[in-house]
Amino acid sequence: MNLPLNNIVLIGMMGTGKSTVGALLAAETGLTLVDLDQRIVQEAGRTIPDIFAAEGEAYFRELESALLRGTLQERGIVLATGGGAVLREENRLVMREGGLVVALQATAEEIIARVGEDPGRPLLAGGAKERVITLLEERKDAYAFAHLTIDTSGKSAEQVSAEILTHY
Ligand code: S3P
Repeated sequence: MNLPLNNIVLIGMMGTGKSTVGALLAAETGLTLVDLDQRIVQEAGRTIPDIFAAEGEAYFRELESALLRGTLQERGIVLATGGGAVLREENRLVMREGGLVVALQATAEEIIARVGEDPGRPLLAGGAKERVITLLEERKDAYAFAHLTIDTSGKSAEQVSAEILTHY
């Protein structure tokens, strides 16, 4: 009998490489890549900036939490979460029970170099650098519940993916 593969849940700030590393992990393991932000966009029928603008962040977080819970009922997935999905304790519990939780870390400089002033990321609007530094500081404890934390500094996505697989 083939046992279903354990899920991998990728957490970390915007621009730490969750989507890219998730795609590599999926290709290596045969797990299915699921992007939580994409599910939110599908469900809401609007882009993320539009959800934030029209409904506000609280509505976005409700949708994110509900879809996180639903998605982690599935097995055999690599789930790339949005950077703020860890903010609610209930979500952190759902993630820890739902698979191997891997936190990707990067410095503020690397994050800014990767995402810049991305109009698709409403939380970085109006001054990416200060916002990234503030968010990193505010959220560092929220990422600490991961089973595994990987420092991605100076590493390629392939190296990060390989490192995760040594623990899988
Ligand atoms: C957010 C991160 C984004 C997206 C939304 C909010 C955050 O996802 O969910 O813009 O609060 O950090 P990425 O981490 O994939 O950019």
